Amino acid sequence: MFNSIRTKLTVTYLALILAVMVLTSFFLLNILEQYYLAYHSETMNRAANLVSEFSSGYMQGTPDIVTVSNLAEDFARQIGSRVIITDQRQRVVGDSLRVGGLLGSSLNREEIAKALDGERGETIQFSEQSNQWVMQIAVPIKVEGTTVGSVFISSSLSLIYQVLEDVRKFLQIATALAILLAAILGTFFAHQITVPIESLTQATEQMARGDLNQRVRVRSKDEIGRLATQFNHMSGRMQEMTRQLRDFVANASHEMRTPLTSLNILVKSLREYPLDVKEREEFLADIDMELERLIHLVESLLDLTRLDRLATDDTMQAVDIVPTVVNTLDMLRSRAENKGIILRYTVPTQAPPVFVVIHQIKQVVFNLVDNAIKYTPSEGVVSVVLYQEADQLILTVADTGSGIPAEHREKIFERFYRIDKARSREQGGTGLGLAIVKEIVSRHGGEIWVEDREGSQGAKFIFTLPLAASMYENLPVIKKT
Ligand SMILES: Nc1ncnc2c1ncn2[C@@H]1O[C@H](COP(=O)(O)OP(=O)(O)OP(=O)(O)O)[C@@H](O)[C@H]1O
Ligand SMILES: [Mg+2]
Repeated sequence: MFNSIRTKLTVTYLALILAVMVLTSFFLLNILEQYYLAYHSETMNRAANLVSEFSSGYMQGTPDIVTVSNLAEDFARQIGSRVIITDQRQRVVGDSLRVGGLLGSSLNREEIAKALDGERGETIQFSEQSNQWVMQIAVPIKVEGTTVGSVFISSSLSLIYQVLEDVRKFLQIATALAILLAAILGTFFAHQITVPIESLTQATEQMARGDLNQRVRVRSKDEIGRLATQFNHMSGRMQEMTRQLRDFVANASHEMRTPLTSLNILVKSLREYPLDVKEREEFLADIDMELERLIHLVESLLDLTRLDRLATDDTMQAVDIVPTVVNTLDMLRSRAENKGIILRYTVPTQAPPVFVVIHQIKQVVFNLVDNAIKYTPSEGVVSVVLYQEADQLILTVADTGSGIPAEHREKIFERFYRIDKARSREQGGTGLGLAIVKEIVSRHGGEIWVEDREGSQGAKFIFTLPLAASMYENLPVIKKT
């Protein structure tokens, strides 16, 4: 039970509130007590001084105890305390308490002794007799600078302690109420927090078991709401990725089945039928072609898998790609010539460096020009242009072939997508060439698209690569001043 966030949160709340209330009560009561006592002492002191002033006139010679007691009684009535007046030998010469008073007796108290020494005496003590806390104050009575007696006032502190007791009770009730309220609110908020976490945990458990179709309800816009939204994004993305992977494997297997079936038939025929040398050569040539097709497919699949890996071993370098482009075009020249196609190119002698994995750029150029040659009939022209525009390098591959109808322009970059399946397969195509190209270009921060050729028939592929210098400039950590 103590492992649940709900309990931990509620208990923490309660402990915190209890601690705050206890500390506050302690300090508040202490301060109030100090304040009240100081105030009471001040009032009593003033009263004592007043009595002292008034009585000094009656204290010369032998004081008249009736007059002095009347005076004490008058003041006692006004301040609600007992007032006693003594001569300089501590003998009581006036007492506000007429019946049972101390008139005539000697009052040996430390406050009075202090007052007779010319100072002020003050004590607070619990009186067993009246069963309450009392404050006793004594001040000297002076006549022309000599102490002739003392005024002693004893006042009850029960009102002060009653008020303090009331405040203490009030604070106790407030603490109990605060704890009750905190327990209710704490449980409510803890519930608000733990319910979505609970459903997230359940959904995650289901996902761990392989059921990716998990979505949780987003109940708020706070951190937990954001977590729920991100969870839904994640599970959606995982579902999509799994679907893509499944489709990819299905497509790849399907693509392999065709050449494998042909190979199977060819090999069986070679074995089972008596064939002359020429026929055998033809069969072997077919086997060769199907094998080439399989190898091309597997190589393309491997290229894509390598590109799909998040971290590749390939390191990027800032290089001038002109020599690589020219080199690749030279490699393809004989293929174009064999098909009666003219391969032209316009490239500068050198270009500003771009940040690339050079063999991947070679593959991009190869695949685009290979397509252009493949899908252009003989007598056609394939032209390649490389130039710089603003902070990027642009390479275009244009041909005079059939072109790409608008409805296919987005899709041809998808894996295994071919406009005319039969024709592409006839040419040994897998439908992966442009998918590889797109993946490489976007990994390099560039873009690729296809356009109509202006004014004539054919396709024009265009791809861009940001210049290395512009990439440095765009680094977010380096501020330009
Ligand atoms: N220059 C082009 N002219 C006309 N159609 C093209 C051109 N380039 C690509 N295509 C179309 O786009 C499809 C996809 O091209 P992609 O390069 O991905 O595959 P492929 O050429 O069929 O196979 P692979 O490149 O693996 O040998 C091709 O099948 C073709 O229909
Ligand atoms: Mg291709």
